[in-house]
Formats: sequence, structure tokens, C-alpha cells
Amino acid sequence: MCGIVGYIGDKEALPVLIDGLKHLEYRGYDSAGVAILGEDLKIVKTRGRIKDLEAKLKNSNLKGKIGIGHTRWATHGAPNDENAHPHFSESKNIVIVHNGIIENYLELKKMLINEGHTFRSETDTEVIAYLIESFYDGDLLLAVKKAVNMLEGSFALGVMSKDEKDRFIAVRKDSPLVVGLGKGENFIASDIPALLSYTRNIIILENGDIAEIRKDKVNLFDLSLNPVKRDVQKITWSVDDAKKGGFKHYMLKEIFEEPQVIREAMRGRVKDGKIEVPELNFAKKFLNEINKIYFVACGTAYHAGVVGKYLAENFLRITAEAEVASEFRYRDPVIDKKTLVFVISQSGETADTLAALRLAKSKGAKTIGIVNVVGSSAAREVDSVVYINAGPEIAVASTKAYVAQVEVIALSILYLAKLSDKLTEKEERLFASAFEGLPEKAEKILKQSDSVAEFAATTKTIEETFYIGRNLDYALSLEGALKLKEISYVHAEGYPAGELKHGPLALVTPKSLVIAIDTYSPLREKTLSNIKEVKARGGKVLAVASEGYQKIEEVADKVFYVPKVADELSPVISVIPLQLLAYYVAESRGLDIDKPRNLAKSVTVE
Ligand code: AGP
Repeated sequence: MCGIVGYIGDKEALPVLIDGLKHLEYRGYDSAGVAILGEDLKIVKTRGRIKDLEAKLKNSNLKGKIGIGHTRWATHGAPNDENAHPHFSESKNIVIVHNGIIENYLELKKMLINEGHTFRSETDTEVIAYLIESFYDGDLLLAVKKAVNMLEGSFALGVMSKDEKDRFIAVRKDSPLVVGLGKGENFIASDIPALLSYTRNIIILENGDIAEIRKDKVNLFDLSLNPVKRDVQKITWSVDDAKKGGFKHYMLKEIFEEPQVIREAMRGRVKDGKIEVPELNFAKKFLNEINKIYFVACGTAYHAGVVGKYLAENFLRITAEAEVASEFRYRDPVIDKKTLVFVISQSGETADTLAALRLAKSKGAKTIGIVNVVGSSAAREVDSVVYINAGPEIAVASTKAYVAQVEVIALSILYLAKLSDKLTEKEERLFASAFEGLPEKAEKILKQSDSVAEFAATTKTIEETFYIGRNLDYALSLEGALKLKEISYVHAEGYPAGELKHGPLALVTPKSLVIAIDTYSPLREKTLSNIKEVKARGGKVLAVASEGYQKIEEVADKVFYVPKVADELSPVISVIPLQLLAYYVAESRGLDIDKPRNLAKSVTVE
């Protein structure tokens, strides 16, 4: 997720762009830049935050009444000055800012290189600027239209030409983009907060919209340049509410982003019935020598690693363990060059996880990073990094990152199975289709959020809970319990359902709430019998089950159904009711959900 802004009017553009970018820093903050068209077309950009850009701007005299700006969350190319946006075309007559991921940028780049062009950066965005220029013959709108019709992927664009001071062009496909309508001035931005200081009259562009932004008029077109009309919305939100997209907390906003996060995490990795994770192109000989796999992480990332353990043993038939990094790093684990270590980290900066990574490397293991923050320490130090493309996660409680971690771990393991001839073409096709169905199924679950809220309101007197499940549902029970305890402060523990009678059942009373996750179909009857054990002791049971498993209603007090999906992919979406439950229980208790007591978003110390 990045933030883009654009302005044309009678004011100096620079202050407007900087102010807008500051309101979009929650969308990305590893580098930033602006382009202003005045006497000349100039760019100033830098690695770092908006304040670093402002420092760099002190020495430049950027004057002009039309401009575009960008604050970056890197997906292609490490965060540095060269990869920061805006990007020039080769002649520097055209400039662009972009939010999204272009899936076919490499083939377009090869085509342009074969036509004799030379590139400056490693980004997918620069390819768009060069492509627009290749079509430019004095009409920027037409050149943009021709170029974007060749793009595959997600993009919100702002484009300016040195030769056209009276307009700039914007395009929206899959990445959000809004138009702000002022008096004698007009704007674009990735999100509404950037514009509320100037106008509350907003057009929310739809997929495929191309906008011609003039200071006294905005014209909208489809991808064939047929005129389109869009409603103007009057925004009444405060700036802070707007940053949360109208949600009460970032955590809820991030849960509702999950369908799109699931799409972005698989973008370029699932296509035409194939699963491709090119970052993991290990030789089959190497893979066949691996005899041990570790998934090492902390907190929620560790829980994603537990899912990985089950999937790795299932598909690769190699012994796999999930380990808490703070234990792994000090127990002198058995590691050698036949060991494969996955380190999982949203921030890529967690101290224990980094220490575990360095230990594994020092003992000769091959290391894979499942990371969100591009260019973070973990991303730089592993042998191969597979980014989860979840965008910045602001809430301390990790939700969309967990969903993307589990999804990318599943994609990675299936790809390694494919490379080592342990996945048939038919299986690959079936799983590819299952991945493609996930976003819609996630959306269907999110539509249940009101009933989750209603149930949460009945838990005011609950002081402790047990989450139980078997196999992948056990992995989910750990994450569900962590979510609840870290934001509602209600004691919660995740247990293998089969463990109840070995001790925890002694704690079950009519005051207990047990959340039974029963989606893993091979063991669902077993878990159902554990639910009966709890009911026999008077405990209250909330079950999460797959649609169609009606018999569970005869036993559980309440059932949240999730759409049926391949068992191996169930954690990607079955976690959503658990995240919503934690959120609404905490919300019903009036707690500071985005910043829970005693916790930090990234634990960069031991
Ligand atoms: C998750 O809700 C917590 N905020 C925490 O457990 C987090 O997952 C853990 O600290 C790991 O962080 P990382 O993914 O950035 O390494």
C-alpha cells in the first residue's frame, strides 16, 4: 500500500502535496517524493519519511501550480532514493506516481529494453512511465489509455507531462484513488484524509476509471476513453476517522482489508491453474536433501508457523517443527546444511526472530523469510524472501498480516512440493482454484460481523476462555486465544482438543466459554466429541465450523459457519471470526484496541 496525491490549481502545489502525503503516511513510509511542473518538470525524492523529504526540499526551489507526490510501501525494489517515486520516463518529459503491483512488468520491461530503452530503477512503476512515453505524441490522456490497457495487476496512477501544464491524468484499477473537487482547483489522493483540509466533495473512482484533472474541470472516462459519470460524495468524517476508513479502530479496518490482502498476497503467484513462487527456485536436488524444516517466529507469526509445520509435513513429508524464536535461539537446536528454516515476521525487525535467523545461518541452514516490510532486516538477511504484500499494519494486534502469512506459507510449501515432484498437476490446479476463491469467501465471512458482535456482547461476565481444535484447527486455536487475550485482557488459552481430558477440563465450569474450531474435516467428529465433554460439564461452547456441518448445532450453543474451502487453506479464512470475536469483546469493554496495554507493534528488543 502506498499513498499518492496530485494537485492542480492556483496555489503553489508543493505545500498541498506535502500536507496530503503527511495524511497518507499510514499507507506507507519507507520513502517519499514529489514532482512539480513549473518552469521545468522537477522531482525531489528520498528514502525515509515525509520529514526527510521536507529536509531535502529546503535546498530546492520547487515552484509550480501542478504536481504529484508519493509516500511508499515498497513491494518491488528495496526502499532507497532511486526506487522512491515519482519516476521519470526515459526523456524525463513524463513523470508518474503509482500504488499497486504490476504483474507483467518484467515482460514489458524486456520489450522496452529490446526497443533500446535503458532503465534507472528496479521498480515496476518506472516501466509504466516508459510505456506511456512510448505512446506519447502530444496527447497524455491517449498515451496513458494505451499504456494502461497493456498492464496486468493493480494500479492507482498520477501522471504529468512536461508539455501539458493545464492537466494531469489519474487512473484507478484495484488500488484505491479518489478525486477531490475544489473551487478553481482539483486533487487526487489514494485516500480521503489527504484532501479534507481542502474539500469535502469527493469522487471515489471505480476500477477502470481514467480521470483528466484540470483546475476548473474533471473529466472521467473508461479504459476505452468513453466518458463516464460518477457521483460526488460529501464527506462528513473527521481526518482521523477518514484514516480509519470510517472504522472505529485500525484493527477493524485491517480485518476488513483482508479480502484485498488475500488477493495481493497471491498476485503474480496464482495464475492459469499454476502456483509460482519464483523467489523459491531451489534445485530439486537441494530440496531432496532437506531432512528438517523449522518455522521460527514470535507471537502471531509463530502461530502462522504452526500452520506451516502441519502443511510442510503433509505435502513435503519432511519432519517439520514450529518454534518460538526466543526458545529456539537459546536451546542450541540441531541444524546443518540439510535444514530449511522459515523465519516469519511482519515487521522483519523482531529481535528474537532475527537472532534465531542468524543462529540458523551460522549453522549452515538455508533460510526463507515470510516478511511484510520490504527491505527490513529479516528480508535482507535471509537467503530468499517471500513478501506477503499486506501493506502497513497499524494496529498492534496482527490480523491481516497473519492471514497473508498463512496464505504465503501455503503457497510456498505447495510450490516446494511442486519443485520436488510431490504435487501433481491436478492437485496444483485444484489448489490454485481454491486460492482464487478465498477473497470472496473472506468477504462472505465479514458479512457475519454483526452476529459476531451480538455474540460478543453476551460475554461481558466471561473471565477466561479456552480455544480448542485439532491439527490446523489447533494452530488456529493458538491465534484465536492470543487475539482475545492481547486486546480484551480476558485470559484465553489454545489447546489441542484432545488435551482437555488431560487436565484443562478441570477448569471447565458453567462460567467457562470454550471456542471450538472444527473446520478440519478429517477430525471434525473427534472435535465434536470434545465439545460434548465441555457441554457435559456445563461449559458454554461457541463453535467455528464449515458450512454444511449442521450436526454441530445440536451440541454447540452458537455456531459461526465459514464457507467450505480446502482443509489445508482453511486457516486463511477461518481465523476471521476469531479476529472479529476478539475485536468485539474488547470493544464491548471499551478498551484501547489499537494500542493494548504493555504491548508494542514491533518488539525490537529481547
Ligand atoms: C500479534 O497480534 C502481536 N502483536 C505479536 O505477537 C506479533 O505477532 C509478534 O510480536 C511478532 O511480530 P513480527 O511478526 O513483526 O515479527
